[in-house]
Amino acid sequence: MAPEPPSKPVSAVWKGKAKATEADFDDLNPVITYRHLHSRNLGVKDPLRVVALCDSDAFYAACEQVRLGIDPLLPLVVQQWDSLIAVNYPARKFGITRMEKIKEARKKCPELVVVHVATYREGEKEPGYWENPDTLTHKVSLDHYRRESMKIIKIFQEGLPTGEIEKASIDEAFIDFTRPVRDEILHRYPHLAQVPPDAPNGADSPLPPPPLILWDGLGTVIPVNPLSSGSSTDKLDLGTQDSDPASGDGVIDDDDELTTWHDVALSIAAELMGKMREDIRTKLGYTTSAGIARNKFLAKLTASYKKPNNQSILRNAAIPNYLRPMPFQKIRFLGGKLGKALAQEYDVSTVGDLLAISLDEMQRKFGENSVWVWEILRGIDRSEVKEKSAVNKSMCASKNLPQPITKASQGHHWIRVLAAELALRLNEARESNSGLWPKTIVLHVRQGYETARSKQAAFPFTRQVTVDLIASAGDKLWKELVGTGDARTRPMNINNVALSFAGVGTMEAGQQGIEGFFTTRTLPDELQRSAREGGVKRKIDSLNDPAEGPRANIGIGDDGGYSNALAGISTSFLCERCGKRVNLPDSLSDAGIGDEVRIEALEALRVEHDDFHLAQQLAKQLASNGSPQAIRAFDRPVQKKAKKQRAPEGIAKFLVRK
Ligand code: CTP
Ligand code: CA
Ligand code: CA
Repeated sequence: MAPEPPSKPVSAVWKGKAKATEADFDDLNPVITYRHLHSRNLGVKDPLRVVALCDSDAFYAACEQVRLGIDPLLPLVVQQWDSLIAVNYPARKFGITRMEKIKEARKKCPELVVVHVATYREGEKEPGYWENPDTLTHKVSLDHYRRESMKIIKIFQEGLPTGEIEKASIDEAFIDFTRPVRDEILHRYPHLAQVPPDAPNGADSPLPPPPLILWDGLGTVIPVNPLSSGSSTDKLDLGTQDSDPASGDGVIDDDDELTTWHDVALSIAAELMGKMREDIRTKLGYTTSAGIARNKFLAKLTASYKKPNNQSILRNAAIPNYLRPMPFQKIRFLGGKLGKALAQEYDVSTVGDLLAISLDEMQRKFGENSVWVWEILRGIDRSEVKEKSAVNKSMCASKNLPQPITKASQGHHWIRVLAAELALRLNEARESNSGLWPKTIVLHVRQGYETARSKQAAFPFTRQVTVDLIASAGDKLWKELVGTGDARTRPMNINNVALSFAGVGTMEAGQQGIEGFFTTRTLPDELQRSAREGGVKRKIDSLNDPAEGPRANIGIGDDGGYSNALAGISTSFLCERCGKRVNLPDSLSDAGIGDEVRIEALEALRVEHDDFHLAQQLAKQLASNGSPQAIRAFDRPVQKKAKKQRAPEGIAKFLVRK
C-alpha cells in the first residue's frame, strides 16, 4: 500500500505545536454505561480497566537485609567483586549509587554494611556466601533473589485469584485489577446491577454520578493541575525520587465534579494493592512501590512517581498534565534509537511537543507500527497483562572472564561452574512444573572484542538433570566450538563463556505460544478467541504481510523484560530460513545488566522468529486443506521427539515435518 501524501508540510504541522489540544486526550473520559459495567470481556477496551505495576525497593539489598536479619534502617549495599549492584535507601542518603566502586562507597559511609552476592565455585552444587569470593574462579548467583521474587508473585496470585499477574522482571509485576474491581463495585453499589426501567437508552445509558471518593490512606494521588495545586514542578518529572511530605498523600487537588467511575475503580484497586503490599511487608519483609493507572505503560511510569514504600495513583484526568512536560526520551521504549530519531526529526524533547505530529506524518516517517508511539504519547496502551507461559523460556549462566582463557583445557572449569547454575535453575523450575525440559543447550564464547559465537545441540529429555550431564554436553560443545588445540595452533583469548538452555517448556504450553501468530481468518474458533486481543495483534500484523518477517524492532510496544545492555554479546542473529538479520529491540540496547539477560533476550527472539516461520507454514496448510494437520505433530510423545531432534532450531523445525 502506497503511503498517503502528507496533508500538510511537516514544518507547518510541527509549528502548530501550541495547538495540541485536549482533543489529543479525548480517549481519557469515555461515557461509562451499564453495558460497560456488566460486560466481563471488554479486554483492553474496557473503560473501567485498572492496572498496577509493583516494584520492590532496592531489591537485592532488601533480600540480603532480610536474609541476615539486619535492621532495615542501616545503610547496606550488595557487592559484586569490587562494584555495587544494589544500594538500599538509607545508603542512598550518603550519596552512594550503583555506579560506584566499593572503596568509594565505604569512604562516603564508613559504617556501611556490605554483603557480597552469593557465588558458585567449582565442585559445589549450591551457591554460597564464601569468604573472599574471587572473580577469577567464582561466578555470581542470583538464585536467592529469583526465589524471593517468586514468593512475592505468589502473594499477588493468592491475594487476587481473579486478577491477572504478569511478572515483568526479577523485582516487578503487572497486576490487572479490572475483574476484581468490577466485582467489588457491583458488591458495594448493588443498585448498579440492574438497568433502571426508566433509563433512556436501556443498558447503553450512562451510570449515575459516582460517589465521593475518600483518597486518604490510599496513596499519592497525582494532581490534575500540578502547578496550581501548590506542588513543586519537579513533580512533573518522571519519578520524583525523594519522599515528599507535602506531596498530598491522599489529598485531591481539584474539583470533585471531575470524579468518574474510573476513579472509583482506581480507588478500589488502590485498596487492594495496599493490602497486598502490606502482606509482602509483614510476611516477607520487603517494601515495594506501586503505580496504579489505566494501563501498563502508565502504571509503570506512575510506580516511580514517589519511592520507596509508597503507591501512586494516576487518574485519567491527571494524565495530560503528567505526560506533556515529560522528556519523551525518558520513556523506556523511546530511550533508544527511535527516541533519538524522533527528537532529531522534529527537533523536540517533550511529550507535549510530539503531540503536534499527526499520525499520518509519523507513520510516513517511521512506518505503520509507529501508531503505537502516537498512542502512547496520548496515554493509550493496549498491551495486555498476561502471565507469561513457561514455554520458550531460556535459562542462561554466563561468566565474564577477567583473565581470558588462552588454552582450550581451561574451559572445563567454567563449564562445570555454569552447569551447576543451570542444573539448580532447571531443577527448581521443575518443582512446580515437572514436565519442563530444555530442547536445546547452547554454548556461547566471546573472544576479545568480537561478538559471541555459539554452538547448540539437542538436550535429551531426562528426569535427572545433573551437573555432570549438563557439563558433559557443555564439554562436547566446547570441543566443537573451540577445539582442543592450544595457543600454538590457534590464538585464543576468550573473555566470556555462557551456557544456556533454550526453548525450555512443555509441549502443551508450546501449542499456546504459537496460537498468537495465526491470523484470525485461518484460526480455529477457540484459537481465534485468544488471538483477538490487542497484545497479539502486533504479531498478527507482521504475519499478515507475507513479504515481511517479524520486524527487527519486534520488542517495541511489548512490555516484557525491562533492561539491559548489549556490549559484547551479539545484538542480532541471521535467520537461515529467510536470510534476514533480526535485531534485539532498542529498549535492550542501553547500558545496564549483564550478558545473561542479553543472551536470554536474544534466544527468546530467535524462538519467536522461528515460531513466525512455523506459523506461516501452518497458516498455509490450514488455508489449503482446512485441517490443522501440523498441529497433530504436537501429540507425539515428547521423548521420541527429543531423540529424533538432531539439530533443532526451535520447535519450528520438527513441526513442519509431516
Ligand atoms: N539490577 C542490576 N543491574 C542493573 C539494574 C538492576 O543488578 N543495571 C538489579 C538491582 O540490584 C536491583 C534489581 O536488579 O536490586 C532490581 O532493579 P531496580 O528495580 O532497577 O532497582 P532497585 O535496586 O530495586 O532500586 P529501586 O528501589 O530504585 O527500584
Ligand atoms: Ca526495584
Ligand atoms: Ca525494577
